[in-house]
Amino acid sequence: MNLVLMVWRQENQDAQGRLERIEAKHISPEMSFLEMLDVVNERLILQGQRPIAFDYDCREGICGMCGVVINGIPHGPRPGTTTCQLHMRHFHDGQIVVIEPFRAKPFPVLRDLIVDRGALDRIIAAGGYISAAAGSAPDGNAMPVAKPKADAAMDAAACIGCGACVAACPNASAALFVGAKLSHLGLLPQGQPERWTRADAMVATMDREGFGPCSNVTECSAVCPKEIDIGVIARMNRDRIGAIFLVARRSRPADTM
Ligand code: SF4
Ligand code: FES
Repeated sequence: MNLVLMVWRQENQDAQGRLERIEAKHISPEMSFLEMLDVVNERLILQGQRPIAFDYDCREGICGMCGVVINGIPHGPRPGTTTCQLHMRHFHDGQIVVIEPFRAKPFPVLRDLIVDRGALDRIIAAGGYISAAAGSAPDGNAMPVAKPKADAAMDAAACIGCGACVAACPNASAALFVGAKLSHLGLLPQGQPERWTRADAMVATMDREGFGPCSNVTECSAVCPKEIDIGVIARMNRDRIGAIFLVARRSRPADTM
């Protein structure tokens, strides 16, 4: 099939961007969206033109690198699907496909469809880990975890840090991402000692990086390729309140405790 792409072209972070009309010819419905871009790029290179810059790594839905906005929707029209796992059979011959980078102030466009998602890495660096001496592997039954908690932690751990939630949110909030990271650690016994300080540090870094507040629009969860539940944001807010109580208790004089 043949399609007409309207692709965001931008030389660098400081340049003015624009949508450019590029034809995608002889595209197989079995190709992935990124393979379609590969075919288009091969033709552009043969014609002596600059290929479309886009990001990817795994091409199997686990690294979070490939996200672009397709016809106004981060990761495109298929629910629960990353851009790299989207297939051309979900488009039709002659369709106009608008392809843009994720739009959010904390994600500056580096070139064409590539954005800098380093702000999410800095949120993780602020507390998205457990600072315990790992030692050797403990016995599997030494620390029992209730099945519902283990399931919820595993669901939250599915977040691949793609940033689609930020791109979909009118406030460019990273609350779903932060909520997912806090939930997958804070629901497990190993994550308890740093639960409150982790929430405090990660939320403060999210604010400092320029992400907006959550106002319950819920677009984030709707576009999330890992279908992270909006409830993780409530957990983030509860853990943040826990952090505030912890600071208040620590700052109280000893004889009033
Ligand atoms: S919560 Fe979903 S949309 Fe947001 S970064 Fe994680 S996987 Fe991507
Ligand atoms: S390239 Fe890794 S998730 Fe798409």
